[in-house]
Amino acid sequence: MFRNRTEIEVILNVPDDPHSVTAEGASSASWRKRQGTKISIRTQRRKWTHRADTWDRHNDVGMSKVAAKAIEMSDVKPGMVCVDLGCGGGRLALELARHGATVIGVDVSDAMVQRMQAQAKSEGLETVTGMVSPIEHLSLPAGTVDLVISNYALHHLLDTDKAKVVNAAYGWLRPGGILVNSDMMLGRGATAQDRQVIASKIKVMAKKGIPGYWRILKNAGRYLFRVHERPITPEAWTRLYEAAGFKNIQSVNVVSEANVVKGTKPAL
Ligand SMILES: C[S@@+](CC[C@H](N)C(=O)[O-])C[C@H]1O[C@@H](n2cnc3c(N)ncnc32)[C@H](O)[C@@H]1O
Repeated sequence: MFRNRTEIEVILNVPDDPHSVTAEGASSASWRKRQGTKISIRTQRRKWTHRADTWDRHNDVGMSKVAAKAIEMSDVKPGMVCVDLGCGGGRLALELARHGATVIGVDVSDAMVQRMQAQAKSEGLETVTGMVSPIEHLSLPAGTVDLVISNYALHHLLDTDKAKVVNAAYGWLRPGGILVNSDMMLGRGATAQDRQVIASKIKVMAKKGIPGYWRILKNAGRYLFRVHERPITPEAWTRLYEAAGFKNIQSVNVVSEANVVKGTKPAL
């Protein structure tokens, strides 16, 4: 286990150009898949840099409940080495550091990473390191991390990249380490559960009048065409965890649209 931040920084394999969108190691993937990943990364960076100043105020009850459940299921303890994928302004990363963990917050938007670091500084949290990188291109040394965690970020990835990241996380974790993903998890309306979640989201937005109707239209387009928002079901996440080798997989529904899925890399 790495105990201090300096040691962490030394072991990190930060790319020379963290904004690079070269699909390393993807030589066997098709040109179309690489282009899809490249476009997805570019649009996410633009979108979230634009929202960096306001996102932290998006602290509704549902989001807070989901984040709190993710922290609870992480079993965080002082000295643990954690990686928060799509850390944003540091909702999870800062909380883990408050529990005494060493945390690397990774985000595609440097504005988000800067916000996390500014908040860490203002609280005197010295164990938070920020890294500007697309999750899809993150490279960490094998077997060095106790916890990989993510809140409301992985649904932005293309499905092939979701699978790649779950596999990569398995490699970064030490034996006994855990992966916790809390996220919007639903399909595209094929099941009664999906339809119930979609209906309840529409109801909440419709209450906001014209701006709400505009969001309904915008979100309907995004879900249908899978632009920016690409959630998959808790069952699909569970299958990705199983395929990567995770054991003791638990999926907990927190609010209608969101689950926390946790898996453990078997101890040697
Ligand atoms: C909905 S916000 C969640 C932020 C934070 N986890 C939280 O709980 O508040 C999604 C975050 O994921 C980041 N993100 C989206 N796609 C990404 C990618 N491909 N690589 C790294 N970060 C990404 C965005 O920049 C944004 O900060």
